[in-house]
Amino acid sequence: MTVRPRVLVTRRLPMVVEAALRDQFDVELSANDQPLAPEALQRALGTADGILCTVTDRFTAEVLSAYPIRARILANFGAGVDNIDLAAAAAHDIVVTNTPGVLTDCTADLAMALMLMTLRRTGEGEREVRGGRWMGWGPTHLLGRRATGLTLGIIGMGRIGRAVARRAHHGFGMRVLCSSRSPVSSAELAAVGAEQRATLEALLIESDVVSLHCPSTAETRGLMNNTRFALMKPGSYLINTARGDVVDDDALIAALMSGHLAGAGLDSYRSEPAVDRRFLGMENVVLLPHLGSATRETREAMGRLALDNLVAFFSGRDVPNQLTSA
Ligand code: 8YV
Repeated sequence: MTVRPRVLVTRRLPMVVEAALRDQFDVELSANDQPLAPEALQRALGTADGILCTVTDRFTAEVLSAYPIRARILANFGAGVDNIDLAAAAAHDIVVTNTPGVLTDCTADLAMALMLMTLRRTGEGEREVRGGRWMGWGPTHLLGRRATGLTLGIIGMGRIGRAVARRAHHGFGMRVLCSSRSPVSSAELAAVGAEQRATLEALLIESDVVSLHCPSTAETRGLMNNTRFALMKPGSYLINTARGDVVDDDALIAALMSGHLAGAGLDSYRSEPAVDRRFLGMENVVLLPHLGSATRETREAMGRLALDNLVAFFSGRDVPNQLTSA
């Protein structure tokens, strides 16, 4: 009997995914579904052939300097891989894979949900009803903004950015602008009803709502800073379903407190699960707990894709979503 690769799974996954993993590998499942501390990640690197990890596992250069390292693959359950130092992984001959594509629709849906919640003040409304403070319908009660006709600026026009553009333009009648590191073809722009702006600054000046869909990289960390918030229209909104560190929280809080921004909808935070306490008291900020891809369908599909990556890797086949080469 051949020895099956040993795969450590850092968090609890949907049951069907865990069962499929057990069919293929000698699997060690998380005992308590808690994020692993750096020492535990280093132990995992030394004892498993492969690790199925998530956004809550931070494989920094220091963690990856563990010795000895047995693991040859980090199969990330998620599209964003800012939790892994890719250069350090490559230097240690560790392959990194991710799960793009399968979370596009659900993350775009959540961005729209967050945008509508923010524009229509649904968080405030729900707190009022639950708190027993609702005094009844009124002509000027909790007036928000109509999405239709507003200009949405999308920063980052990858799969999710394009899916948001399509929903906003074709579903909600918004004018959609985008700015992206790489140019988007006119056919793609036409399909989703978006116009590309040459610079981020040009997009910020014109947008009523700005929605972030770029990855967290050295270039995008702190992208939304004081200068860029100052360029946004008075009374505009920021939506972030990307990564918390793309936004300078002090700058966002200052823009909200001065009234320059009318509101913000956040699903991702710099030091999750910690949330800057100043946001908690702001009625015009909608706060969600990183729910972008949180549907049964998508989490199962993410698990299946991570499994496909592991199976391909250990059988010596081309790995579908390989980001680094060992
Ligand atoms: C995932 C995400 O749930 O895929 C991503 O980049 O942000 C989320 O949708 C998370 O990364 C799980 O690891």
